[in-house]
Amino acid sequence: MKAAKRWSLGNLRDMASSLPGPRHRAPSRRRARVYIVMALSLIAFFAVIAYMYPHHSKRACYMISSRGCKALADWLPPSLREYSDDEIAARVVISEILSNPPVIRKDSKIAFMFLTPGALPFERLWDRFFQGHEGKFSVYIHASKERPVHYSRYFVNREIRSDEVVWGRISMVDAERRLLANALRDPTNQQFVLLSDSCVPLRSFEYIYNYLMYSNVSYVDCFDDPGQHGSGRHMNHMLPEIQKKDFRKGAQWFTMKRQHAVATMADSLYYSKFRDYCGPGIENNKNCIADEHYLPTFFHMLDPTGISNWTVTQVDWSERKWHPKTYMPEDVTHELLNNLTSTDTVVHVTSVGVGEEIWMPCMWNGIKRPCYLFGRKFHPDTLDKLLDLFSNYTKSVSWQL
Ligand SMILES: *[C@@H]1O[C@H](CO)[C@@H](O)[C@H](O)[C@H]1NC(C)=O
Ligand SMILES: *[C@@H]1O[C@H](CO)[C@@H](O)[C@H](O)[C@H]1NC(C)=O
Ligand SMILES: *[C@@H]1O[C@H](CO)[C@@H](O)[C@H](O)[C@H]1NC(C)=O
Ligand SMILES: *[C@@H]1O[C@H](CO)[C@@H](O)[C@H](O)[C@H]1NC(C)=O
Repeated sequence: MKAAKRWSLGNLRDMASSLPGPRHRAPSRRRARVYIVMALSLIAFFAVIAYMYPHHSKRACYMISSRGCKALADWLPPSLREYSDDEIAARVVISEILSNPPVIRKDSKIAFMFLTPGALPFERLWDRFFQGHEGKFSVYIHASKERPVHYSRYFVNREIRSDEVVWGRISMVDAERRLLANALRDPTNQQFVLLSDSCVPLRSFEYIYNYLMYSNVSYVDCFDDPGQHGSGRHMNHMLPEIQKKDFRKGAQWFTMKRQHAVATMADSLYYSKFRDYCGPGIENNKNCIADEHYLPTFFHMLDPTGISNWTVTQVDWSERKWHPKTYMPEDVTHELLNNLTSTDTVVHVTSVGVGEEIWMPCMWNGIKRPCYLFGRKFHPDTLDKLLDLFSNYTKSVSWQL
């Protein structure tokens, strides 16, 4: 059949051609041309494959230098990037955890986790906040410098084993993980709130309980700062698992659903990248601050729609200094607390230019609601004023759906 076909094609050509000369050489030339075209398309095909899957194997990378491979991998969308075995394992485990959110029940509790060097100056305020809500909360304290003396029965014997915490270093993340690990041991804890010694409640217990328990996201702060204090702190050592385009920033004060707390504890791959490479002086003059980048980057990569992207803990950065404003007794007025509790948009200040701002509304299950449940950087001397004002400012807004 094949021979006959070729013969007949040749015959047609021969009939069309008036020159008898090249009749016997033509088929081999054509065949050579076909082989060249085939060889060229094979090379092109492999080149395309090498471009698309540069991490697929080392061999594919020989076609372009390994440096080219890495640069291309960074540029590629994640779906085209070849994951390492460790990364595949981590992603499978974490997506399995996230796909099984626990059911909220009557006995579901909020774990209030205090990260403090020592004393908790607002224990008396928290005591009033907790009163009457026994069985709906639990308290955990990580006191890194000295064991605090307690004024509230809710705080007695709630210390967990602690270790030294250095601001901006991985030891801060380690303390957060230690708190989560301890709080996860109680299966009725469904929400995990990280607080500092300078944090105060801005709402009644009931309001905070409903706001968190029935929210469909965890309140983890996360934004893209393309400047030197944002993705400028990304280290090449973090590649290929953590790409510069996925590097995020956010305040460390989170509230997390149980599945997000479990996912955080299950992660060792991304955590180890921050432990080993996020610190000052590792690459050039980059000053990577572990607690500002690890969780925002982790959740942005593994569950971007599962987080709010803002924090429910208010802090005043309006002075644009290295540290936020500390509220003093003279600042604490009914008007201030009214302002803090009625805010329903948040701003993220980037390190681009003179501080480009990104504004976003605070959406709670699709409804615009006040952003803040807690306030931060209150001076210990504000305690008496806060106690005076507490029932007034928490009563002003009750929970309504
Ligand atoms: C948070 O930001 C991510 C993008 O990083 C987005 O996909 C997600 O929908 C945002 N979350 C909410 C609740 O809007
Ligand atoms: C409260 O908010 C108003 C309007 O933004 C502002 O003018 C005022 O200074 C704020 N007061 C305090 C005490 O923060
Ligand atoms: C949360 O609820 C909003 C509004 O119903 C919806 O748009 C969003 O997709 C939900 N997010 C998740 C993670 O379920
Ligand atoms: C208590 O709150 C109301 C509004 O909710 C306000 O008018 C009143 O001045 C407040 N009282 C004090 C002592 O601040």
